[in-house]
Amino acid sequence: MTLPQTMRAVEIARPGGPEVLTPCEKPVPQPGPGQILIALDYAGVNRPDALQRAGNYAPPPSASPLPGLEGAGRVAAVGEGVSRWAVGDEVCALLPGGGYAEYAVTNAAHALPVPTGMVLREAACLPETFFTVFSNVFQRGGLLAGERFLVHGGSSGIGTTAIQLARAFGARVFATAGSAEKCAACTRLGAERAINYREEDFVEVMRAEGGADLILDMVGGDYIPRNVKALADDGRLVQIAFLAGPQAELNFAQVMVRRLTITGSTLRPQSDLAKARIAEALEAQVWPLLSSGAVAPVMDSEFPLDQASKAHTRMEGSGHVGKIVLKVR
Ligand SMILES: NC(=O)c1ccc[n+]([C@@H]2O[C@H](COP(=O)([O-])OP(=O)(O)OC[C@H]3O[C@@H](n4cnc5c(N)ncnc54)[C@H](OP(=O)(O)O)[C@@H]3O)[C@@H](O)[C@H]2O)c1
Repeated sequence: MTLPQTMRAVEIARPGGPEVLTPCEKPVPQPGPGQILIALDYAGVNRPDALQRAGNYAPPPSASPLPGLEGAGRVAAVGEGVSRWAVGDEVCALLPGGGYAEYAVTNAAHALPVPTGMVLREAACLPETFFTVFSNVFQRGGLLAGERFLVHGGSSGIGTTAIQLARAFGARVFATAGSAEKCAACTRLGAERAINYREEDFVEVMRAEGGADLILDMVGGDYIPRNVKALADDGRLVQIAFLAGPQAELNFAQVMVRRLTITGSTLRPQSDLAKARIAEALEAQVWPLLSSGAVAPVMDSEFPLDQASKAHTRMEGSGHVGKIVLKVR
C-alpha cells in the first residue's frame, strides 16, 4: 500500500465550543515499534472528545493532539516487532488520540478484529465504550450474575453498552435517563426498569428493590451522596465522570457501616499494558457476544469528518441515543 504524505484531519483550533473543530491537512503519522497505522473508514465520537475540545482533558504527552479515541478501518503499515496484524487487516482500535483523521497510529495490542458480520461503521464505535464499561463494571466493580446494577445516563454511548453487557452477563439492570423516549430505549436494550430522573427519585426506586449492588455513575455532584443511599450493603460505586461536578458532602459512616466501596477510573491515562490486558479480556469474553449479535452498538447518527463540529453539537445537545460516528472516507 502506498501511503500519502498528508491526510485530511480535524483539529482543535483553540479551546472552545464545537465551532473550534477545524478541518485541516496534517502529515500522515508513522507507526513506531509495537504500533500499527490504521487507514480509518470511521471514527467514533465520545464525550471525552468534547472535554478535550473545551480544554479540560489534555491528551497524554505522547498522544496525537488531534481528538478521537477510537475508529475502524484497515491496517496501512505495521511498526517493528508487530506480528499479530498485517497490512490490509480490518480492525477496530482504541486510540491514544488522533481519530479525527484519515490515518491514526495506535499500540498493536489495543486493536481488535472487527466482530464477525459487523460493518466498520459500527465497529468504530466499540472500543472506547467497551473498554470503559468492561473494565469499570466487571473488572473494577466485580458485577456478578443476579446482582442489581444501576447505570446513570442509560441512553449514552456508555449507558447503552453497560445495559447490554450487564444483561448479557446475567445482572438485573436499572438505568436512569432524562426523557420517556430515552427510558424506552433503555428497556428495549435490556433494562428491567428505566427511571426518568426528571420525574422519579432513583434512590427510592433502588431502595424499594433492596438497593443496587453496583452503580456506574458519570454524573457526580449531588448524585454522590444519593448513590451511596441507593447502594445495598456491600455495594460498589464506580465513578467514570462528573458531568455535575466532582464535589459533594458525604457521611462516610455509611461507607463503613454498610461496607461500601467507592472507586473509579479514567481509561486514557492508563498504561499500554493495562489497556492491552483489557483488550485481551474483551476479545475472549465480549467479542463472541458481538459476533453472535447478542450485543450490538446502538447507532445514533453519522456525520462526515469535516462536519465534526455538527457531531459535537448533537452530542452536547443530549438529543442522541447511543453512538455518533464520523465517516472519514
Ligand atoms: N472514565 C472513563 O474512562 C470514561 C471513558 C469514556 C467516557 N467517559 C464519560 O462517560 C460519560 C458518557 O460518555 P459518552 O461518550 O457515552 O457520552 P454521551 O453519550 O454524551 O452521554 C452523556 C449522558 O449523560 C446523561 N446525563 C447527564 N446528566 C444526567 C443526569 N443528571 N442523570 C442521568 N443522566 C445524565 C445524558 O443523558 P440525559 O439527556 O438523559 O441526561 C447523556 O446521555 C461522559 O461523561 C464521559 O466523559 C468516561
